[in-house]
Amino acid sequence: MSTASLPTPSDLTITPRDRKFERGALSTRLWHGGSVEATAIYNALSTTFPAGEAYFVESVRAFREGTPPKLAAEIKAFTTQEAIHSREHDAFNRRAADAGYDLTKLERRVEERLAFSRTRPPIASLAATMALEHFTAILAHELLKDPRHLAGADEGAANLWRWHACEEIEHKGVAYDTWLHATRHWSRPKRWKVKAKVMLYVTRNFLVDRTAGALELMRQDGVTGLRAWSRLLAHLWVRPGMFRKIAGAWFSYFLPGFHPWNVDDRELLRRYEASVRAHPEARRKVRSAA
Ligand SMILES: [Fe+2]
Ligand SMILES: [Fe+2]
Repeated sequence: MSTASLPTPSDLTITPRDRKFERGALSTRLWHGGSVEATAIYNALSTTFPAGEAYFVESVRAFREGTPPKLAAEIKAFTTQEAIHSREHDAFNRRAADAGYDLTKLERRVEERLAFSRTRPPIASLAATMALEHFTAILAHELLKDPRHLAGADEGAANLWRWHACEEIEHKGVAYDTWLHATRHWSRPKRWKVKAKVMLYVTRNFLVDRTAGALELMRQDGVTGLRAWSRLLAHLWVRPGMFRKIAGAWFSYFLPGFHPWNVDDRELLRRYEASVRAHPEARRKVRSAA
């Protein structure tokens, strides 16, 4: 496929929203609705972002030379968005640490994975980034689509997650289009093989590492063993069931003709922007007064 026939919408603009979120203490340690497992899942995920998204940026930028002007501009906007995400999640992680969580074990795991990735050829890093960007985009889609995922969460923290989700959807095609450009001389079977293999590899690591991370944080809240496993799995797969809900979208990655923008979910972005314009602070007051 040439980059001229990409399904990325021609009128898409990637707009870095340089927003600063809460820096003070979290309203409560179990900021996600008082739930040990929900707080652990989101804290574990947040721990990956500062270093992980810096790695995404470096992986994509390694291939920006010679890209068409539109894609080059999108890479630039993607870089800015991810850098701001890193900054805000770094601040969020400090708030979680201030609430008493020890995140060092989780952060170390991320660093180890990234150190290994950096020993691989740059095209493998781009493939890993593209796979993880699909992951974040489908998580983001589900997060914005169904308010149950953030139900009961501290409003300041929820705002951070919604903002991040919005920008992940907006730039979801950038790593993919960079890959299409970088591998434009590859055969289709070779492209598919590398793409599929890397997706399976990063999915396995993502599930293993995030599960271990969430269990570690639950342990710090005194929930261990079978009780911890069952509560964690129920949250992820049953209710609200994030992983169950994204399973189909995850699988679509392997289908011929896949492209992140085959699903145009910009309606979610419009709704997000409308809700930001409608003064979230006011809505928070109404909710806490109810
Ligand atoms: Fe991000
Ligand atoms: Fe991203």
